[in-house]
Amino acid sequence: MDNTFQTEFDLKTSYETYSITADGGALDYYILAGPAPKDVIRQYTSLTGRMELPPKWALGYHQSRYSYRSEAEVRELVEAFKRKNIPLDAVHLDIHYMDEYRVFTFDEQKFPEPEKLVQDLKAEGIKIVPIVDPGVKRDETYLPYQEGMEKNHFSSYSDGSVYYGDVWPGESAFPDFFRGETRKWWEEQQAYYTNMGIEGVWNDMNEPAVFNEKKTMDNDVFHEENGVFKTHRELHNAYGLHMSQASFEGLKNKLGGKRPFVLTRAGFAGIQRYAAVWTGDNRSFWEHLQMAVPMTLNLGVSGVPFAGNDVGGFAHDTNAELLTRWTQLGTFTPFFRNHSNIGTVFQEPWAFGEKTEETIKKYIELRHKWMPHLYELFQEASETGMPIMRPMMMHYAEDPNTLKLHDQFMVGEDVLVAPVTQSAAKHRIVYLPAGTWYNYWNDNEVYEGGRYIMAEADLDTLPIFIRENSAILEGSVKQNADAKQESLRVHVYLGESGSLSKRIYEDDGETLNHQNEKYFSESISISRDNDIISIEEKDIHAGYTPCWSAKTYVLHQVSEAIEVYINGSKQETVYDKADLRAFV
Ligand code: GLC
Repeated sequence: MDNTFQTEFDLKTSYETYSITADGGALDYYILAGPAPKDVIRQYTSLTGRMELPPKWALGYHQSRYSYRSEAEVRELVEAFKRKNIPLDAVHLDIHYMDEYRVFTFDEQKFPEPEKLVQDLKAEGIKIVPIVDPGVKRDETYLPYQEGMEKNHFSSYSDGSVYYGDVWPGESAFPDFFRGETRKWWEEQQAYYTNMGIEGVWNDMNEPAVFNEKKTMDNDVFHEENGVFKTHRELHNAYGLHMSQASFEGLKNKLGGKRPFVLTRAGFAGIQRYAAVWTGDNRSFWEHLQMAVPMTLNLGVSGVPFAGNDVGGFAHDTNAELLTRWTQLGTFTPFFRNHSNIGTVFQEPWAFGEKTEETIKKYIELRHKWMPHLYELFQEASETGMPIMRPMMMHYAEDPNTLKLHDQFMVGEDVLVAPVTQSAAKHRIVYLPAGTWYNYWNDNEVYEGGRYIMAEADLDTLPIFIRENSAILEGSVKQNADAKQESLRVHVYLGESGSLSKRIYEDDGETLNHQNEKYFSESISISRDNDIISIEEKDIHAGYTPCWSAKTYVLHQVSEAIEVYINGSKQETVYDKADLRAFV
């Protein structure tokens, strides 16, 4: 239903009917006939748009806090990550970096040399992502406010008087992001950040949130959309979408061919074209960890593949166990950021002692190991709209047991992840759909699906299962996405007479050159006839030279008698007896 008015979805009152009502506007429906769930997503995203391939660094591990309050504190944080060899791709700066919360400023006392900070960190492969809220402080001496007033950029009442609402900076005006001219102006403002070398921003409070009883702007404020004036009552839901649009376009225009990153809290259908979405202020409760799974899945099937949750929980104090389990889930949510509220305990990976740190580090490293696999899925998402993290029913719609399953999920088509979301659990029930499944951690454990199993899950273990007849791409552990990818491993899980095909995708991970043919894509088809494995490698596109120097096949659950052929020629194999694996 294409309607921006306040909308109510009632999925509960009646067992037989779902109802959707809107406060005004037309009943403008699109019927997407599928037939399969993934066809619906393709159809829906052909209408609302698809995500552009994000920079690789944005797929790494982000560390955030409300707030890291000074340059010294940020540098200390980064030093700690380096000292402990914990991968880190981005540090987010929450509202305290600003001069009294004025957007497009840095506090000169606490951040005397922001550009140097950004550049120094960048040289080590770590990006700074500052928060940028829509509220512009009402202050006659502050340039963005002056300009906004002069050029009529702020949302106003019908008599032309500007709407003011209280947010972090106190009384503030709100750009009318529905106006093309205003978006252009906001785009220009991004130069303040890009001139320092910043490549990503975090748009928050863009519902817009206002500290008043209604928690937002007055309904009778007007916005101007394509020359037509419409009320905030009509357009409220799309405010965040257009703010992120302006941020994204601004960064993109100013980054000289590099890919921008925008993170947003608010959005509307189509937000995936401009921003990744995080699900806002959760709490450090097990219940909120549980909710993180269906929330992210629902965003994915709503066309928003790049989504995640505050790892560890935002409000209230987290603890060692909850942070560990949440980091395990975060490893496989498309957006992976640890963030916490002011006044709560610190929750950096080392905050709860060595043992917890070790486990958390293992999972942040795992994210990098899985990066080639995830990146291929991101690329697919940019072309088809298919989410990266998928509900089970996406691939097993014929199996009624999967329809409402929301405490486990698929990563792409081949990987099943079953996070532990309960305190003190050492096991959990996992539903394996029909077929054969390998335990990722110990592939000597092979399961026949079509049933529930009890998976072992001590605090160190996130249950992961690999579908038979699939291949997983694995990179080396890196400290961030900038570091060189030295090797690529293709893990092959084939049944005795199975076959599979897998696509490898790679590009420079940071520029838009892939849109001009500068990417590498190879298709691998593998078939097995007992002890004979034939691999066919075929370049689909060779516009980029991948950075790994060697590619190794790891063949799981094979016998010593294995014979391997690549494009018809017989290969040397190294056999590992204990794990029944052959390396080629
Ligand atoms: C909002 C955001 C949160 C942020 C805080 C301060 O609550 O959702 O992530 O830390 O504002 O900027």
